[in-house]
Amino acid sequence: MAVMPSPPGSFKQSWLERCRQCSRCGLSAERQHVVISRGDPSAKVMVIGEAPGASEDIQGLPFVGRSGQLLDQLLRTVGFNPDSDLFICNVVKCRPPNNRKPSSAELRACRPWIEEQLAHVDPLVVVLVGATAVAAMLKRKQAMRSLRGVWIEQAGRLWMPVFHPAYLLRNPSREPGKPVAMTLEDLRQVRLRLCQCEPASGALFPCPPPP
Ligand code: URA
Repeated sequence: MAVMPSPPGSFKQSWLERCRQCSRCGLSAERQHVVISRGDPSAKVMVIGEAPGASEDIQGLPFVGRSGQLLDQLLRTVGFNPDSDLFICNVVKCRPPNNRKPSSAELRACRPWIEEQLAHVDPLVVVLVGATAVAAMLKRKQAMRSLRGVWIEQAGRLWMPVFHPAYLLRNPSREPGKPVAMTLEDLRQVRLRLCQCEPASGALFPCPPPP
């Protein structure tokens, strides 16, 4: 039987299969799916959240519930196509019961998967969605109010912390100065940074016209 070639940048089938079979922590007992990623593995921007919720567990894809729909809407507003411009995943790949925060043991058990995803995608910029992702990836435990919107250069990469969309759903005002508007500013910074890092990718990320 002919083997279909994988698209460029794809993860090896054997890696995906190992990840799908993972039983390194107790979350494997109750999951419906290991939620690995969506988007393009050769994207310049990687988006990392906390852990799958109920919709993600059912569909097997990250950020597809209410939070994810809001996140996509904000990403599209600043000019990203979430399917082709981004690689989206979580620090924990299986749903914690009742959407509780993942424990440190679960975060530790899942760590190799996100490290391997990061090394494989090798993005120019990483957007960290919410405090759990920031703490897990960068060991920083400040409040999101002080972390968000400020570039961090660490471990040879550029990171942008942003509010978690679940927080934005609880604070839905679109007024200037409110969390939704702040998040749009932060995502715009990401987009602008890409134009500066990669002027050659102008066709993919056209710089917004000067004001
Ligand atoms: N929240 C997250 O952090 N990740 C998801 O995939 C969904 C909701």
